[in-house]
Amino acid sequence: MPTEPVANDALFSTFTIGALQLPNRVAVAPMTRVSATADGVVTDRMVDYYEGFARGGFGLIITEGIYIDTDHSQGYLNQPGLTNAEQELGWSRVVERVHAAGGKIFAQLMHAGSHSQGNPYATSTLAPSPITPRGQQLTFYRGEGPYTTPREITREEMTDVQTSFTCAARRAVAAGFDGVELHGANGYLLDQFLTDYLNERSDEYGGSAENRIRFAAEACASVIAEVGSEIAVGIRISQGKVSDGDHRWSGATADAVTIFETLGRTGIDFLHTTEYQALAPAFATGSETLADLAKQHGRVPVIVNGQLDQPEAAREILRSGSADIIALGKAALANRDWPRRVRDGVPVATELRDGTLGPIADIKDWELGD
Ligand SMILES: Cc1cc2nc3c(=O)[nH]c(=O)nc-3n(C[C@H](O)[C@H](O)[C@H](O)COP(=O)(O)O)c2cc1C
Repeated sequence: MPTEPVANDALFSTFTIGALQLPNRVAVAPMTRVSATADGVVTDRMVDYYEGFARGGFGLIITEGIYIDTDHSQGYLNQPGLTNAEQELGWSRVVERVHAAGGKIFAQLMHAGSHSQGNPYATSTLAPSPITPRGQQLTFYRGEGPYTTPREITREEMTDVQTSFTCAARRAVAAGFDGVELHGANGYLLDQFLTDYLNERSDEYGGSAENRIRFAAEACASVIAEVGSEIAVGIRISQGKVSDGDHRWSGATADAVTIFETLGRTGIDFLHTTEYQALAPAFATGSETLADLAKQHGRVPVIVNGQLDQPEAAREILRSGSADIIALGKAALANRDWPRRVRDGVPVATELRDGTLGPIADIKDWELGD
């Protein structure tokens, strides 16, 4: 049963990131749906799927993680890429339809590192140190069994990765994207550098938190140097990983201060934090959420994600001042029109339709159109 719409609803005020004005504060979180062609080209299904969120009222859509080179970056079979003209053209079709429906869209640029479980271009995986990730490969992305043990990335390959991020960002501009988000979260390459137990390096990229965040900060700086005057640039950060959901930074708040200050100083336009529960304290001691810490120490706009499915939870975190935009993952899949529903006072669905993410997490027929 519809309820009265909320007056002056914080969710529906405009917000500016960099030079970009967003129509509201509600974003779709990045979600890998392994629905591209085997060559990483966007399919018609993906174009319809992304357009649907914009038609449903989401002001910002962050794409699924997009691989950035035909070397070691791809994580999953049928993941989309942004490495050649054909892939760029495919994404321009998505962008065009999202824009026509009134939404803005950021490309999430990703290097899977040791968490790659399906890459036709490589027979090995790369990581800061040769340490096998915990946990098992994701079956809903066609993986099976433990992760392979990566090879330690060379300094030359680290430079190549930076170049891959900037080249993909350049293609994102050409495709018409409004921004790029570097994937610095969830256990992928940039987060592997940050993670104490996956990084045993003795050079300036290992050891202290300051050293472990260096590679991600350098990636931000190089992307900003390439496209920062044209589109918004930011980075997503988490503690948990696809291979280890419970991980916490060992230096707790002190690590958070170093990480967010360092990233903020690169000139990024936004930070995106993701936690299992965005409203929960980030560490065992202290009451601050990860978004609070990002806001205080990064000093840039914050996108926040993690179980903000109900409009009241989403409003609460905006009201607290610790974040500017809320991003919805599973709630967006359950309600492709979440913003429209909330604006109209229509209750939101709390469960995903059975089979949406299984047995393979590709886009299903019922996720197309309105
Ligand atoms: C099917 C699926 C795919 C995901 N793929 C990505 C991804 O490509 N990049 C990323 O940063 N996070 C990814 N995530 C994590 C989500 O962005 C989000 O952090 C997570 O769903 C928690 O938010 P929620 O509580 O709103 O669902 C994925 C989540 C799901 C459910």
